[in-house]
Formats: sequence, C-alpha cells, structure tokens
Amino acid sequence: PDQIFGPARPNSAGIDLSDPLVREPLMERLAKLEERTHEARPTERNRGEHPIRRITSPHDDRIEVGVAHEATDEAIDAALTAAAKAQPAWDALGGEERARRLDKAADLFEEHREVFFSLCMREAGKTLPDAILEVREAVDFLRYYASEARAKFTHAVPLPGPTGELNELRLHGRGVWTCISPWNFPLAIFTGPVAAALAAGNAVMAKPAEQTPLIADYAIWLMHEAGIPRDIVQLTPGDGRVGAALTSHPLTAGVAFTGSTDTARLIARSLAERTDGPIVPLIAETGGQNAMIVDSSALPEQVTRDVVASSFQSAGQRCSALRVLYIQEDVADEMIRMIAGAMEAQTIGDPRDLRTDVGPVIDAAARQSLRRHLDWLDHHAKCIVRRDLPEGLAHGYFVPPSMYEIEHLEQLTQENFGPILHVIRWKAGDLEKVIDAINRTGYGLTLGLQSRIENNRRIVERLARVGNLYINRNQIGAVVESQPFGGEGLSGTGPKAGGPHYVTRFATERVTCVDT
Ligand code: NAD
Ligand code: ALA
Repeated sequence: PDQIFGPARPNSAGIDLSDPLVREPLMERLAKLEERTHEARPTERNRGEHPIRRITSPHDDRIEVGVAHEATDEAIDAALTAAAKAQPAWDALGGEERARRLDKAADLFEEHREVFFSLCMREAGKTLPDAILEVREAVDFLRYYASEARAKFTHAVPLPGPTGELNELRLHGRGVWTCISPWNFPLAIFTGPVAAALAAGNAVMAKPAEQTPLIADYAIWLMHEAGIPRDIVQLTPGDGRVGAALTSHPLTAGVAFTGSTDTARLIARSLAERTDGPIVPLIAETGGQNAMIVDSSALPEQVTRDVVASSFQSAGQRCSALRVLYIQEDVADEMIRMIAGAMEAQTIGDPRDLRTDVGPVIDAAARQSLRRHLDWLDHHAKCIVRRDLPEGLAHGYFVPPSMYEIEHLEQLTQENFGPILHVIRWKAGDLEKVIDAINRTGYGLTLGLQSRIENNRRIVERLARVGNLYINRNQIGAVVESQPFGGEGLSGTGPKAGGPHYVTRFATERVTCVDT
C-alpha cells in the first residue's frame, strides 16, 4: 500500500571503480589517508582514568590505526545524566528540525566518505567495494530515518471522536536509548539505530564494538558538526563491560542491540532483572544459520556467482551470509565443481589491494574460533575446498575460504562467522523436509532459493520462517527501505532496520482527549 512508503529522498552516491579517472586519484588519496592515526574518546570526558585500547589492522597487526579511551563507570553515569536532562528539548524540536540535522549529517558523511573508506579498510579489514557499500548504507539510513521523522513526528494523528470529543495521538521520544553495535558493519549498523533513535526524539548513548571505535568516533563528530547537540548523541567506547553498565543504568529507557544471539540474551536478562528505572524495550538484531536451497531447475552459472558472493564477500562476516547450501542431488556434483572452481579463482589478501576478493577476519579470537571449526570439519565432514593462504599474510587474521560437505544441518550447533560454506545434498520430493530442518535451527534471518519452478517458490514462501527471502539472487546487501532487514526467532526481535515500522519502535505514544 502507498501509505507505507516514505517520501522521496536522494539515493546515496556510488563510485565507479571501473573508471581509471575515478579510481586512480581515489587510490592516491586513500594512500595518503593511511598516514593518519585516529583517537576515540567518550563524549563525556575527563571522568576518572580511561582504560586505553590500541586498535590495529586486521590484515597486519603491526599497523596501529589509533587508540580508544574507554568509558569509565563514572563517565557513563555523567553521560546518561546529561543526556536525560537534554532529551526533552530535542524531543520538543519536532520531527522537521531533527530531520534537517540528520540530512545534514548524511551530507557530511558523503563529504568525508574517503576517511570512512580508509577506516573501514584499516580498522575493520573491509575491501574498498565493501567500504563503499558500508558508507552508502549509513547515508541511506540517515536520510531514510530523517524522512520518517518528517512523516511521522511532525503532526498529531487525528483519531475518531464518537461523542464529539477531540482525540489526537502524538509520538515522542522515550528518553535515552543505548545503541550497541557490532564490528562487522562498523559504520552502517553503528549509524542506523542511532539515527532512528534520534529521529524519534531520543538522546543516544552510542556504544560501538570494541574492535571498531575509531570509525564510530568520526561518525559522532560529524553528527555533532551537523547540529545534533553533544549531550544528545554521545560516544561511549569500550567492550562488553561498558555495554553492560549502560544497559543496567536506570536512566537507559530503551536498548537497540545488534550482535550475537548470546549477548542479546545476556542483555535481555539484565533488563528483566532491573529493579530501578523504567521497564525497558529491547530491539535485538542477532545471528543466523542462513541457508540457500538450489533445485535442479536452477541456472548453474547464476548459482555459482550468487553462492560465492553470499558466502565469501566480506570474508563471510555478514549476518546475512550464506552458511549452508542445500543442492538437489541430481545437479549437486556439477554445481559443487563450478563453485569450487570459482573459489579457487578468488584472491585472498590485503583489503587495501583492489584485486583482493577475501580479506581478513576481524581479530585473533575470530580466527581461533573459525580454525577450531575447520578442525572439527576435518574430522566430521568431507573437505571439497580449503584454500591455501598466500605467503606474506602471517601478521594478519586470515582464514582459508573453505567448502565442506556435511550430512545434515543438526551437525552445526552454532553460527560460524567467516568464510566457511557447508553443503548438504537433498533428494527430489524432500523440499518440505529441507525447510523444516532449516526452521528447526530456531534462527530465521536470510534464506536463498534458486529455482525456476513456481510451485517450489510457493512452498518456500509459505513454510520458511525467515525475515529476508531472496529468490534467484545472492542473499546479502539488503537495501534500506527497499529490503527492510532483520530476522525472527533466534535471529532477532524486529522491527526491521530500514523499514517503515522501525523508527516508531523507538518512540512512545501519547493520546490527548479533549471534551468539547
Ligand atoms: P557481540 O555480541 O560479541 O558484540 C556486539 C556488541 O555487544 C559489542 O559492541 C560488544 O561490546 C557488546 N557487548 C558484549 N557483551 C555485552 C554485554 N554483556 N552487555 C552489553 N553489550 C555487550 O557480537 P559481534 O561479534 O560484535 O558481532 C557479530 C554478531 O553480530 C554475529 O552473530 C552476527 O550475526 C551479528 N549481527 C547481526 C546483524 C543483524 O542485523 N541481525 C547484523 C550484524 C551482525
Ligand atoms: N544489511 C546487511 C546485509 O543484508 C546485513 O548484508
């Protein structure tokens, strides 16, 4: 229906890397930016001794990108107190003025995008094409949630008055939201919930992942430059300790979390146990055990392209990434051979090199956990591809892109967040059983289907319990507003990021009734 679409807004700007006149000067400017080191600090400063964390590059841990000063308990308390005091005035500004400042922030993000590209590559290990997508998504979030503020937070909604009374509903901010983000989208997923909470009239404590505070600091600085007051959006860098201190603080009025399912459960428990402060809503966007189902009508070249993108782009470190590929047995040998061939052709290496397809994983702990899983697969599955790592990567956190054939999905007991693909063969006639197995994991984030059979498509649409179903394409890279993103079950609470129901979940509703 027409009414769920927001007003038109400019799309974020792309970059044509195939044009040497664009690419070469850009690469030169990015090389210069590598000399810059960055610092992340809590917006509320000088409160106690801030622990310091060195931030190094995932592709080479000898390269220091900057340092983060982590928020102390005292700084967190002072930050929340200042934010709670400032929030009513921000709410009273109204949707139009808040939207104007969010739009200004989007413009500044675009103006400074090369600094973001550089930080995405150096701090988060992203390739340049991934970094470009990351900045575009952040810009789209800012502009889309600005348009939502204009559409939903500028006027009262008139309600029926059956006995002649005047009834009106208004949306307001709830107070201070704590927004906790993961490292794998250090700008886009850091910015999205913060922008939505601001659009709805809230103050925000923005807690980036401990691995990627520098890009977050730069984003918050630009938001301040755009006219969003310092007390209204504050950076609180640090690890889970800082996240836990924020969520358990009585002044936190809402929590928007993106990260692992285990951490979401911890936060839910801590919110449930709070005995002071308000009852706090939790929006949690979490992990997945994402599958793609390929039947015998699928086009092999298309499957190959879409599987490789879904599993190995961003080194498999997308919550949406494909983990389990179900191939109908009649076509399995050929498809597996083609996918293996495409994997062998991928370049593994330094994310700053434009030839690189698969960069590093985020840190030593991630590499360790993926290595453990590969060891387990070596004993319990059939290895189809396990790439050798090229020389010269010893100082980075690289994991060999791999494909293993397993017997059944129950063998996988957790999300494996990296470049590892599992393949399972299925028999004609078993489509419903396959969907049942996927549903039984309890996750429900993305699902791919490759098929030209209309009836198979209908079965999958009817039975699959997933947030984002992609048919005959890859299953990553949801576009703000067009493909609102988020899962169900163990994959999250909803509402969907970049969708029409998101911003209003950060608000409280107030009704006025006037007896005429
Ligand atoms: P994580 O759960 O380890 O950390 C996420 C954030 O939570 C970090 O900022 C961390 O410091 C913080 N945190 C840790 N313990 C906390 C606590 N006790 N209280 C409050 N905050 C705490 O996740 P990660 O490794 O950073 O990110 C990867 C995970 O995120 C994967 O599971 C991935 O699927 C998921 N993810 C989901 C989506 C989605 O939209 N559904 C998007 C991106 C990533
Ligand atoms: N929005 C991200 C994607 O779809 C998580 O890949």
